[in-house]
Formats: sequence, structure tokens, C-alpha cells
Amino acid sequence: MRSLVYAANWKMHLPPAEARGFAARFLELTRPAEGRELWFFPPAVSLETTAAALNTRPDIRVGAQDVYWEPKGAFTGATSVALASGAGASGALVGHSERRHVFGETDAETGLKVRALLGAGMVPMLCVGEKLAEREAGQTEAVVRRQLHAGLEGLDAAALARVLIAYEPVWAIGTGRNATPPDAAVVHRSIRKDLAALGARGRLPVLYGGSVNKGNVLGLLAEEEVDGVLVGGASLDPEGW
Ligand code: 13P
Repeated sequence: MRSLVYAANWKMHLPPAEARGFAARFLELTRPAEGRELWFFPPAVSLETTAAALNTRPDIRVGAQDVYWEPKGAFTGATSVALASGAGASGALVGHSERRHVFGETDAETGLKVRALLGAGMVPMLCVGEKLAEREAGQTEAVVRRQLHAGLEGLDAAALARVLIAYEPVWAIGTGRNATPPDAAVVHRSIRKDLAALGARGRLPVLYGGSVNKGNVLGLLAEEEVDGVLVGGASLDPEGW
């Protein structure tokens, strides 16, 4: 049986006091389960609080929502890999669609971030996904392939084995309009081919994200190609999550 990854991206929600409350409640409600890994990506200011509470469980890992590739210096507002690590993170999202399309992050920048994380022994969760116009123009697989190559080209198999991928179609994020399970599976299959072409050996976890909730998660996970989910809005409530 494949193991499943459930990742919570809290985006710009849950300041430290609320993150602490979430963690306490979540720990009360849940127990580790075989074949299930949990990731939480709190906002930077809540990273340390969240990690202190949740790193106590071996099945839970905490990561930053973004990192900058330079190790230190005059980069106001940025979080280096070392700063995130010092706050208790063991990985980070890279190239989330909001970083790409709201903040203008380029494909080349995602590659630098992936390398900075791997160089520090941390886990990158590389996010890829097409915009609605790209899907309608039949470019989904090509866009995702370009993003995967920019993020991962040149890495050896050992480095690639430490990467997680999240396929998040931009048109499905926060819109209530998720890809159907077969839609997601088609793109996940294409991603696996791209990963093999990049030199990956074995099966890298490929998660789906975009309006995932309690009502649709089982259908998505029933697809053999879907190794987990990356969830925004529905991950903010410890009872539901
Ligand atoms: P929603 O689950 O709110 O659509 O967000 C998805 C997402 O962007 C997770 O990274």
C-alpha cells in the first residue's frame, strides 16, 4: 500500500496564539497512523510555535511556506533556509502558485530555492500547476513539465528522492472548483513521466491541491496516482482537518 501525505498550507492565517491552539487541539484529536505523513506550513511568524508543538510527533513535519536561497544578508522580509530551520522547519513549499502569480516568482527562482533546501538537508515541496487559460489552450502538461524542469533539472537521483511534488491547478485554488479525480490522475501520470525523464528512481510522492475538502478528498485519494493532498482553507480547522 502506498503511504499518503496530508499537507496543510495555512497561507496568511493563524498567528502564533491561534497556531498554538490549533496544535494543542489537533494533538488531542489525532494519533499517528501507519502509512500517513502530515505536514504543516504555517506563516513564518508562527513557524517556531507550530514546530515546537507538533515536532513532538514523529509522523508530523513542519515547513515554511517560502524560503529565499541566499544564506544571509540584507534581504528585508525574506526567510533563509537556515532561519526556517532554526525555527524548527524541516522543509518548505517552493513555487506555490501564489508566490508565482501574486509575487512574481520565476521558474529560475524555484530552482534556486529547491537547491538551497536540499543543500541544507531539508525537504522541498515543489508546487506546479497551470492557469485556466493554459488548461483551455491544451498546455497543462507542457506548463507543468517546464516548471518541473526549472525546479529539478540537474539534480541526481539521491537528491530527487528527497523532493515532494504538489500538483495544484491554479484555477482550482480557493475557488471551490477542484479537478475531478480522473483529471488529476492524468496530470499526475504525466508528472511521473517527467520525473523519470529528469532521473528520478522509484516513486516520488505527488500530491494534489486545490479546493480539497472533506467531501472530495476520498475520491481524489482513491486514484492510485494521487499520493496525498495539499490543502489550504479546509486545513484551518483542527476538528475538520
Ligand atoms: P485551497 O485548498 O484553499 O483551495 O488552497 C489550495 C492551496 O493552494 C494549498 O497550497
